[in-house]
Amino acid sequence: MSIFDHIEKLLLKAEVGKPLSRDEIIELLKMSGEYSEYLFATADRIRKNEVGNKIFLRGIIEFSNFCERNCLYCGLRKANEKLERYRMSDEEILETAREVKATGISTVVLQSGEDSHYTVEHICRLVQAVKDETELIITLSLGERPPEDYRAFGEAGANRYLLKHETASPELYKYLRPGCQIDQRVSCLKTIKALGFETGTGNMVGLPGQTYEILADDLMLMKILDADMLGIGPFIAHQDTPLAGIENDDIELTLRVIAIARLLTRNTNIPATTALSTLNPHGRLLALQAGANVVMPDFTPEQYKSRYDIYPGRTDMGSTKDIIAKLEKDFQMIGRIIDYSAGHRPARTNSGTVH
Ligand code: 5AD
Ligand code: SF4
Repeated sequence: MSIFDHIEKLLLKAEVGKPLSRDEIIELLKMSGEYSEYLFATADRIRKNEVGNKIFLRGIIEFSNFCERNCLYCGLRKANEKLERYRMSDEEILETAREVKATGISTVVLQSGEDSHYTVEHICRLVQAVKDETELIITLSLGERPPEDYRAFGEAGANRYLLKHETASPELYKYLRPGCQIDQRVSCLKTIKALGFETGTGNMVGLPGQTYEILADDLMLMKILDADMLGIGPFIAHQDTPLAGIENDDIELTLRVIAIARLLTRNTNIPATTALSTLNPHGRLLALQAGANVVMPDFTPEQYKSRYDIYPGRTDMGSTKDIIAKLEKDFQMIGRIIDYSAGHRPARTNSGTVH
């Protein structure tokens, strides 16, 4: 059997919903570039079949760039003294949530560094206020917290929680996130899922020391956790971190990870991350044609936006209105339409295997 026949057989197997083994995932990650288009086309068909042609929008508000961690890759790390820190006031956060609501978007993501300034009571108050006023579906992304905090957030009205596992390799995780452990991360994710949150995880692609085997483990972890949302983005070196100068100019591997994530997890919500468009002007559209179905416009007020400097070059310029109008045009070009509803992970259809 030729290599092409072999890859075709693998993709067919995936398309009908049969599970891929770790070795098969590695093969798809490693295969020669000429086969990529078949992988992307397969993921695109599964995406269409499972979650449809609509692109869901999530408005994101990055309300604090304080962080107590020292992740080697991230510009918000505590040791980065060059960064001017900010915390938005509760009123500013509420006002921004109203702006999200005014565009017609139904869901808001409240994201910050790991910032213990925000007590559990404070976050709950915020969640309640945003919910009472806007009725938006609320996603929190605040990092690791004790189980009782997650429970309280849910009781206050939070619906979803994002906590990327970043890398499934215990060694790489420990190296990149000093003082942290992957087991702890996974334990948080299991708690979040068990509490009934729609749960988001994900990884970075192109990290120093990352192998195809590690990427396959990332993908298997997403599947095992039964995560509902998967944020997969390229690593981009930040000049004020220990990983400064490490080149990653290739989005091809990130697109492959997105596509394989779609093959494995079927009906999940997968954003085309901003980091992709930072590396390639067409990055976001390519991802949307390789399995992704979500875009997250940034609503953080202008005076703070550039200070949420996780990696360089990340801000979409202009007003959110202009950004959304531009997105709408781009999506039309690839035959897709924006959907303003909450975009929950759908129930499985008969065409897919229930998992
Ligand atoms: N490149 C790409 N993504 C990054 N993140 C943090 N630093 C970087 C970087 N240098 C991502 C992580 C984290 C999210 C807040 O930003 O995946 O979960
Ligand atoms: Fe903090 Fe998250 Fe950045 Fe790590 S990745 S330094 S936890 S904001």
